[in-house]
Amino acid sequence: MTKNLNIALIGCGKMGSAMLRGWLSAKIEDRVTVLDPVGLPEEFAAYAPNPVTHYSDAARFSEKAGKADVYVMAVKPQIMDEVCKTIAPAIPGDALILSIAAGQTIGAFESRFGADKAIIRAMPNTPAAIGKGISVAVGNTPVTDTHKDMADTLLQSVGQVEWVDREDLLDPVTAVSGSGPAYVFLLIETLAKAGENAGLDADFAMKLARQTVIGSAALAEQESTLPASKLRENVTSPGGTTAAALDILMDGKWQDIMTAAIAAATKRSKELSS
Ligand SMILES: NC(=O)c1ccc[n+]([C@@H]2O[C@H](COP(=O)([O-])OP(=O)(O)OC[C@H]3O[C@@H](n4cnc5c(N)ncnc54)[C@H](OP(=O)(O)O)[C@@H]3O)[C@@H](O)[C@H]2O)c1
Repeated sequence: MTKNLNIALIGCGKMGSAMLRGWLSAKIEDRVTVLDPVGLPEEFAAYAPNPVTHYSDAARFSEKAGKADVYVMAVKPQIMDEVCKTIAPAIPGDALILSIAAGQTIGAFESRFGADKAIIRAMPNTPAAIGKGISVAVGNTPVTDTHKDMADTLLQSVGQVEWVDREDLLDPVTAVSGSGPAYVFLLIETLAKAGENAGLDADFAMKLARQTVIGSAALAEQESTLPASKLRENVTSPGGTTAAALDILMDGKWQDIMTAAIAAATKRSKELSS
């Protein structure tokens, strides 16, 4: 783990805040210079002005971020171009640029900052807010092992990190883990609705569905060496109630629906990247 990092954070919204929270809790920073027009979120007040300094103005930020080791780009994709233009002149040649923006390609960052700059594109997901995210990362040619260690340190403070060597894989990655939390929340909704249809009070059904997903996820985490199919088999007695439900769920349609959903999200991710 790399320590004493001089980090520049551009955009301190939901994901930027989640990362900053993780860095401060893992104590990996020497200092963090934040650029965000709104202000530093209240939860970080105790950390300002040291080790966290906030600027709402790009020119002041560029002047004060000094020679940061890494510039974490955490603004919305729509304004990325404009934001990069304002800070590009101040970024040192050997600094790492780490983008977590959906659909923003390494090529786009190379044209903004130069193809000789070390650029890593990562796709985190919302459980990063509680340190339980998973990020998938890919870097361009100038990225060294030192840059990768830095990115690992920054991303591991909000969860697990996986690396791929092909950028196009970030489209299905976005579809599976980036958008995935929404599918799990939908599972809670549909399970609760089905319980309601079977005669349960709506609030009661929702409580059962929600806690079932929470408990099952915790079990999957604790039994991390067991395949999901084994966890499923462990709660399925032959001829029992679970088996009756799984006969319906596993008749192929659910897999077909999920495959179609992932294909649609992958296609949309490709469209947004082009
Ligand atoms: N949230 C997720 O689950 C998730 C998952 C994977 C990837 N991402 C990526 O993470 C990035 C940030 O998403 P988010 O959900 O954290 O969005 P967000 O909550 O809207 O955060 C973006 C932050 O950037 C600020 N900002 C606006 N203009 C700026 C400027 N010129 N310079 C610096 N900061 C500026 C925004 O301020 P205002 O509110 O005033 O505009 C806001 O505080 C996106 O590119 C997204 O694709 C998010």
